[in-house]
Amino acid sequence: MPAILLKNATINGKKQNLLIKNNIIDYIGTNFPDAEKEYDLQNLTVIPGITDPHVHVRDLQQAEKEDWTSVSEAALRGGITTIFDMPNNKPPTVNLKNLNLKRKKAEPAKINYKFNIAATAENLPELKELLETKPEDVAALKLFLAGSNSGEYVTGKEVIKRIFDISLKYDLPVIVHTELQKCIEKYSAKIPTPTIFDHNFIRNRECSIKGTERVISLAKEIGNKLYLAHISTKEEIEIIKTNKDKCRLYCEITPHHLLLNETILEPAGNFGKVNPPLRSKKDNKKILQGIIDKTVDTIGTDHAPHLLSEKLKDYPEAPSGFPGLETALPLLLNEVNKEHFPLNRLIELTSGNTAKIFNLKKKGKIIEGYFADLTVIDMNKTWKIEAKNFKTKAKYSPYEGMTGTGDVVMTFVNGNLKYKC
Ligand code: DOR
Ligand code: ZN
Repeated sequence: MPAILLKNATINGKKQNLLIKNNIIDYIGTNFPDAEKEYDLQNLTVIPGITDPHVHVRDLQQAEKEDWTSVSEAALRGGITTIFDMPNNKPPTVNLKNLNLKRKKAEPAKINYKFNIAATAENLPELKELLETKPEDVAALKLFLAGSNSGEYVTGKEVIKRIFDISLKYDLPVIVHTELQKCIEKYSAKIPTPTIFDHNFIRNRECSIKGTERVISLAKEIGNKLYLAHISTKEEIEIIKTNKDKCRLYCEITPHHLLLNETILEPAGNFGKVNPPLRSKKDNKKILQGIIDKTVDTIGTDHAPHLLSEKLKDYPEAPSGFPGLETALPLLLNEVNKEHFPLNRLIELTSGNTAKIFNLKKKGKIIEGYFADLTVIDMNKTWKIEAKNFKTKAKYSPYEGMTGTGDVVMTFVNGNLKYKC
């Protein structure tokens, strides 16, 4: 592989040059070492490639929604160099056989990837069998406490404890979708003919809050790593803050729970249907506070592609979720430009902390000897979100028409330039 020099860049806050050799960051400094290829970045900033721990790649029997090629293109456009695939597929990633099907499908991927494996009441022996193979490509276990475009959810406390035991034994975090199924059913029964404007009532904040409380108390007992996915309410941020130093607790938020709330449903309709639902402005504010005071550890996109034709159905039939890979980093850089939080904090949230929590070796920082997963950003580049130009197959967005400043210019995966705008 020819050596590549990125020169005159802002790296780790300083103007310097970076040499990539054999997939690795070989040199960082003010010298100009020889290289077969050079890019003069003229003061553009280089940050660690983004790791997105929450991506629904689909493929297999849902390749019409997304496949590993389209998801790769979308990720690269968004400056994302590593993704973790979620297991609620057809067929679901619940055992070695289905993981092997996924592995085969993932071969054309142009990014780094790992798999999250679903843990249910039914698959625990198979799960152990899978984990006994010490798979390098498994990032975490995934536990759903409610249905969300999938049937793989768990309700009983005892089963959750058994899953947490497995998590501890194999030293893999459990990623939890904390909405509680029974609670959703209780609220759902109150609205006989619901519309999108009832989504936040039906999948009530109480259901997320209670689920979060439940799993934190169990993880305190067992001692496993607990990673709470897409936290959406101010109450949960508060609960996590109070419990953070009492157990191995990590908090993920999404760009949409930070930046959007129910008020966008008027124009967005089902494009804004997502689980957990978009909440309120107060929740947005508290999530931002959590980013600043470090209650929040990571940002995941929850990229959840569905067919446009499905999203255009009436509310009860329309699936939840929308694409997020291409919009996340531009939206977040725009927040940095607005001085809502500094770039260093964004880097921690999108790569540094993810590498620590999920034990990704030599990733998440720009240091000599680390993998050259790098994203070049231009903090002055303006953008407008137009879903028709997306690389994902899901060409719609609740952010349609939004404008901002700060965008991705180049994405390098293991030292190879895979995207250039
Ligand atoms: O809105 C969502 N969509 N939330 C989830 O938890 C699942 C996801 C999907 O798979 O479509
Ligand atoms: Zn998800």
